[in-house]
Amino acid sequence: MTHAVDRWNAAYDNDTAPWVIGEPQPEILALERDGWIRGRVLDAGCGAGEHTIALTALGHDVFGVDLSPSALAHARRNAAGKGISAARFELADMVAIGDDPDLAAELGVFDTIVDSALFHIFREDDQARASYERALRRLCAPGGRVHVLALSDVEEGFGPRVSDQLIRESFGAGWELEELRPARYRGRVTETVAERIPPELKVAADGTVDAQAWLARFLRR
Ligand SMILES: C[S@@+](CC[C@H](N)C(=O)[O-])C[C@H]1O[C@@H](n2cnc3c(N)ncnc32)[C@H](O)[C@@H]1O
Repeated sequence: MTHAVDRWNAAYDNDTAPWVIGEPQPEILALERDGWIRGRVLDAGCGAGEHTIALTALGHDVFGVDLSPSALAHARRNAAGKGISAARFELADMVAIGDDPDLAAELGVFDTIVDSALFHIFREDDQARASYERALRRLCAPGGRVHVLALSDVEEGFGPRVSDQLIRESFGAGWELEELRPARYRGRVTETVAERIPPELKVAADGTVDAQAWLARFLRR
């Protein structure tokens, strides 16, 4: 796990993270506009903190957690720069939470959990993915919802990509899949991904790309 933390820290410390785009994902903002962000909100794997900051600014009760101290330092600087001092961030490992009920109890329960590009990083690690789902089950209140925005394997490109099938089968008992639809995840071309950008993926003048993704909504039973 230390190795994983170092890798995540390095992406923030060296400014090579393709997901750090300086703004929230349009799909997450659309969820808010459509009324899906309700009650106590967890931003799991909050990264640079864009969703915690934007949703806090809109008046929601949000908690951003991340495994990487560098991500949290970035998020706190980001929040201060945007004048959103109420944005709250905490160090937490969502996989460890799935393996230890006491860690989950420390965070409490949430009515809405937003996962923007976290689930898909566990695509090749069945154990971590199962622990992560268990963490979500512990942290999501009955009647609450988890929104998963994950890169889709329908196209080649940067980042870890998953099938809709993997999302479906990772959330079994305790969940009802209400919706799973094609979506977009906005990233930027950094040196770490430049060689993996296929010609058909259109890079905007500001260096961002809208990659194909899935957006799933699960109801906690
Ligand atoms: C691809 S980034 C996405 C960041 C942000 N949600 C976004 O969409 O911009 C994944 C984030 O998850 C964090 N992360 C990785 N494993 C984690 C874990 N086990 N628990 C919590 N956060 C984790 C990483 O440090 C990184 O900041």
